[in-house]
Amino acid sequence: MATAVHRLFWLVSVLVNVCSGGELLHNGDLESLDSWVCYKVHCEITTDHHCGHHSLKASQRSSDGSGPGQSFNATQGWLYMVTAWVKLLNDVPGKLGQPLSLMADYTFTDGHRHYDGVVDYPLAQKADGWIQLQAAFKAPNRAIKAAHMTIRGPDAAVDFLLDCASITNIWHGSGWRASADKVIHDVRQSDVNIHVTTQGKLDKSNVQIQVLQKKKSFPIGTVVNAWHYDDQKQSRYRSFIHDHFNWAVHESTMKWKHIEPFEGRYHFELPLRVLGALKKNGLKVRGHNLIWSTNVAVQDWVKHLSGDHLRNAVEHHITQTMNQTRGKLEHWDVNNENLQGQWYQERLNDFNFELTPFRIAHHNDPHVKLFLNDYNIVAHGKMTGAYVAQAERLKKANVGLYGLGVQCHFYNEEAPDPDLIKIRLDMLAKTGLPVWVTEFNIVAADENKRAEFVETAMRAFYGHPVVEGILLWGFWDQSHSRGPHAALVKGDNLEMTAAGHRFLDLWENQWMTDETRVLSKSGSQFTVRGFHGDYEVHVRYQGKDLGNLKQTFTLGETSHTVNINVHV
Ligand SMILES: *[C@@H]1O[C@H](CO)[C@@H](O)[C@H](O)[C@H]1NC(C)=O
Ligand SMILES: *[C@@H]1O[C@H](CO)[C@@H](O)[C@H](O)[C@H]1NC(C)=O
Repeated sequence: MATAVHRLFWLVSVLVNVCSGGELLHNGDLESLDSWVCYKVHCEITTDHHCGHHSLKASQRSSDGSGPGQSFNATQGWLYMVTAWVKLLNDVPGKLGQPLSLMADYTFTDGHRHYDGVVDYPLAQKADGWIQLQAAFKAPNRAIKAAHMTIRGPDAAVDFLLDCASITNIWHGSGWRASADKVIHDVRQSDVNIHVTTQGKLDKSNVQIQVLQKKKSFPIGTVVNAWHYDDQKQSRYRSFIHDHFNWAVHESTMKWKHIEPFEGRYHFELPLRVLGALKKNGLKVRGHNLIWSTNVAVQDWVKHLSGDHLRNAVEHHITQTMNQTRGKLEHWDVNNENLQGQWYQERLNDFNFELTPFRIAHHNDPHVKLFLNDYNIVAHGKMTGAYVAQAERLKKANVGLYGLGVQCHFYNEEAPDPDLIKIRLDMLAKTGLPVWVTEFNIVAADENKRAEFVETAMRAFYGHPVVEGILLWGFWDQSHSRGPHAALVKGDNLEMTAAGHRFLDLWENQWMTDETRVLSKSGSQFTVRGFHGDYEVHVRYQGKDLGNLKQTFTLGETSHTVNINVHV
């Protein structure tokens, strides 16, 4: 019996290895120390374990950078999935938690070395028990002679266990495009069933039926610079926003730093005026952001607060801001970039303050959708695993978390990798929460290259079912935090760049529906596959629009039937 089970496992693991590209680590379940390298750290085998029967205990580490590691076969430009389970055996008094990381150390054939942080996990604690570190990453595009992966990060005084380590390669060109096309067909569109009856003697070759999408329902938006938007001279900027986007987010003016730069001196007027104007023009608006946890984002007067003064200031700020915006915003980013920084938690010496701003916000307005918003999640993937863990904590605490914002600022001249985007979105999808791409931008000096990059990223995002909306972090060279090489339009007249043409071709041509059928060819019953949104159906006879037969409807997730009776 045992042998039969063993054989089955063997067979399954062979099949899995063949399909996934194979396990690259040896003795990943740490049943012994075989193949593991323990440099400046003492390693021993213990019986505590997350898989198998043993794990590795790392102690007597000489610095935060030392830990157990193993060499693996890396090929330049290939994609890998790495996972490892770690359990801290002690905390450090006075510290909220410990960073954990996986570091890849590459030696190239030309002798150069390069360290690449593959996983970052902030604020791990002993009380967490076993923690999963996980990431999808790409080996550098340079001939690799040797590669080594080390588990490290916590203070040298912290001992930890390691178990269930694995590195597998993900095939490039894993069919992301076919999968994206299928999602765009199945998830972003529905059937419009047209049933036509005719009265009298009609020449059916002269009856045309047009199914015309007027508006898309998929949220596609942009950041808005409130000062530019509010400037009477910038009507072209405003028009571009109104004409091409259905969502918006204030770039700076809703941040606490701008609303209350000095204690008790409020600046609500400009952001509220711009919010009102955007809504009047049919756009929906995200609120960005209630608090922002990185050190540099906290304004001076708040930095001087501590204890209950700080807690009260946060509560007052959140309730007051939400009082001003209640019913006008669809979303709030509650605690911006809380994986990159934990200023509030550290200042209050309270790890669970991670939950408090959500509790306050959800209590103040149970209808507005509350988000986390962070980077290094999808465009770069060091924190995908930590984001999943944070989302699970917030879900469990039931504090009103609705969705995950992923910023997606790609590096200068970096081509988006659609396979990595897909696998990272797959990782987030396991939380069951919707994902919004909240701050997308691409930087490439060459406009045509920029156009390619924009298209690849858009297809990968729109072609993943977990993505519920996409917002750009800028489109105009004169109002762009990443500079002119990130622009879709340029100059005083907002002239199109190649990237702008490509972007609009996708959203206003390829991913909008406009189909005309001739009755003699289509027959009296036919189906048009249409993108979700608002539609008009027009009937023409001998080239003349029969205005009285026009119909309108909204196409959502279910099919829609249109009955037309043509009589002239
Ligand atoms: C790396 O791959 C080569 C070629 O496939 C193989 O010969 C070698 O044994 C591998 N090395 C390790 C450490 O797995
Ligand atoms: C917010 O509105 C509520 C209900 O109107 C009110 O009781 C509260 O004092 C307001 N809070 C702030 C900080 O403005």
